[in-house]
Amino acid sequence: MIVSNRLPVDHVSGEGDDAVWRTSPGGLVAALEPVMRERDGVWIGWPGMPDVHFDPFEADGIDLVPVPLSADEVADYYEGFSNDTLWPLYHDVISPPSYHREWWEAYQRVNRRFADAAIAVAAQNAIVWVHDYQLQLVPKMLRDARPDLIIGFFNHIPFPAYGIYSQLPWRRQIIDGLLGADVVGFQRVADAGNFARAVRRLHGYETRGNLINVRLEETQAEMTLRHRATARRGQPVRTVLARPFPISIDAQAYQKLAADPKIRARAQEIREELGNPRVLMLGVDRLDYTKGIRHRMKAFGELLEDGVISAEDVALVQVASPSRERVDAYAQLRDEVEITVSRINGDFSQLGRPAIHYLHQGYPREEMVALYLAADIMLVTALRDGMNLVAKEYVASRTDQDGVLILSEFAGASDELRQALLVNPHDIDGLKSAIVHAIRMPQRERTRRMRALRKRVLSHDVQRWSATFLDALVREDHNDPANH
Ligand code: G6P
Repeated sequence: MIVSNRLPVDHVSGEGDDAVWRTSPGGLVAALEPVMRERDGVWIGWPGMPDVHFDPFEADGIDLVPVPLSADEVADYYEGFSNDTLWPLYHDVISPPSYHREWWEAYQRVNRRFADAAIAVAAQNAIVWVHDYQLQLVPKMLRDARPDLIIGFFNHIPFPAYGIYSQLPWRRQIIDGLLGADVVGFQRVADAGNFARAVRRLHGYETRGNLINVRLEETQAEMTLRHRATARRGQPVRTVLARPFPISIDAQAYQKLAADPKIRARAQEIREELGNPRVLMLGVDRLDYTKGIRHRMKAFGELLEDGVISAEDVALVQVASPSRERVDAYAQLRDEVEITVSRINGDFSQLGRPAIHYLHQGYPREEMVALYLAADIMLVTALRDGMNLVAKEYVASRTDQDGVLILSEFAGASDELRQALLVNPHDIDGLKSAIVHAIRMPQRERTRRMRALRKRVLSHDVQRWSATFLDALVREDHNDPANH
């Protein structure tokens, strides 16, 4: 069973049999959908619209259980606590987090509703896999009500250093919520380390490598039906495994699309529509302040200004899909990005040749693969990012072993994709040099780097990610070093 804030589909319009659904945004759904289709899974989540009530239904072979949210709950739990408190806090306060007690109340209430929905449908001893920062209280709620369940949690976004995390007025409650899981998964080694440090600082629990010994009250120990309660220094403990499981993509699906002659022809057509620039650079992001969109535009604008590149020669396509538009920081970012695009285009475009092609839209996967194939250089300049699946999608799509990936060291993907041109997006000169390096990179070096990147992404796909997580979850004994 999967419990995540969003169902894999969002409700668009209509009711009953007339209801129209579309794939919901974000990396989480893209990563988990193939896994769930392969298993007889139940998925619990919000249909993406306020005030809509649906009975459970089936889509693409997955049983979906919609959890309704009122308009107030969308404002306080989703836009408020999840995306205006936790999101900026966990992304190193790039934007200042807001702390409101009524948002926290709504977060607890909505987490309870998700937990209750899971409790109602979970079979005895079921595996329940809870996802992401919106639902951090759910693991403990599940454990308290249903000690028979095997509970996993995966955090798709970064987990911040304690100096930042400790700002959160409800820092203990969130840690307690997460420690309800048997396995708490993170993207990077650093995230798991930050979590273990927060646990030690706030609770004084003993940690050994990836293991955390959660001290239990006697009554809780008796309730722990699963074998994890062991006595340590006279006190019963339950062992929680907290370690990195870097997420990935359905790499084969991208490869397959990239081999499709229609999509290859579309890639060619895209270049022609752009006036056959010598170099095509691409950015693909949700319009989010964590993605470093303005940093890459600043570097691009300065290169035009310095005369190192010209709009005739080099085109930048920036796909910025709309996201969380009712949250102030996002509305503000949109204005800033659009002002920047207009300025650069005003200064450097030629008739019929805009310097930046800015698309505030989402596109189907087929069109994205065509764009990836068309792009000589992919720019991923996130200021902080749990993983960044776009970087992996670009690599998986480049069956021609060509293309250069410029990748921020602040994206989780940089731990694995070492043959990318790694950049610090705050260092605009460094970013400019990387772009110039990418433009001038000889074919042989491009192929060598792309080959190595592809090897990594193709061998570490989302199927492997979920299998590794689920294996760790069902292992009997986390104390056995052979098991992790
Ligand atoms: C990130 C988060 C996901 C989220 C997605 C889209 O990838 O990790 O949990 O679903 O962004 O954001 P949204 O707020 O539209 O769900």
